[in-house]
Amino acid sequence: MKKLLSLALVGLALVGLAACSSSSSVTKESIEKKGKIVIATESEFAPFEFKTLLDGKDTLVGADIELGNAIAEKLGVDVEYSVMSFNNVLASLKSGKADMAIAGISVTSEREKAYDFSDSYYTSENVVIVKKSDLDTYTSADSLADKSVGAQKGSVQETVATEQLPKASMVSLTSNGEMINELKSGQLDAVVLEKAIAEGYIAQNDDLVITDKITLESDGTDAYAVAFAKGTDQEVIDAVNEVISEAKSSGQFDQWLAQAATYTQSSSSDE
Ligand code: ARG
Repeated sequence: MKKLLSLALVGLALVGLAACSSSSSVTKESIEKKGKIVIATESEFAPFEFKTLLDGKDTLVGADIELGNAIAEKLGVDVEYSVMSFNNVLASLKSGKADMAIAGISVTSEREKAYDFSDSYYTSENVVIVKKSDLDTYTSADSLADKSVGAQKGSVQETVATEQLPKASMVSLTSNGEMINELKSGQLDAVVLEKAIAEGYIAQNDDLVITDKITLESDGTDAYAVAFAKGTDQEVIDAVNEVISEAKSSGQFDQWLAQAATYTQSSSSDE
């Protein structure tokens, strides 16, 4: 009898565990009940999400933020942005801290095993940034042998750098702003970033340049999408897909990008 009881208890505990750790509890109802969606994002990724001074106040802006606002509007609720390092953005979905994540997140087959994704809203490409004064020094992947090449921690650029610049020594950094500073100061010799983000930094740093001498191949992870915990209600994902399709076909998304390009990214990400 005692044995049976303890067995039953173990069983109950297992069911309880499964309930916490298993699929997401994000549904249209849960969102409506809260009256808001919490969106996990980052803040050093212009023109998608970054901080700029608006009326003297550091404000989170960018095309991903506009997309998030439009999603909240579609769902008829408020929006709250939870800003964190990029390498924590996806994990925050698993812990249930955020309902969705929008952070220029590329869809990869690896990530698809662990997360659900919306339709894609943007296509990126990877580039290499070097100092203007090094433009004639680094002219091929081989020329970066034993040189320090930076990529953002947790990003697909880590893989791109490791696979396509195999002789370089890859350095992972949490902050893109920090990475650019290290490139300027010579601690890094080159940096791998996506083109739109690289262009933003080049525009603000005339000692840096995107080199066209080292080109990176697409590795099939160029599509940005909104990420969800596995098991998120299809109704929620459908609503997000509708917003994406409208924003793309109306040209709205391009306008958001163009508007973001007129803002200056705050140099420090200090909260
Ligand atoms: N697209 C790349 C990836 O998904 C980089 C994204 C970085 N995003 C950011 N907000 N820093 O891995």
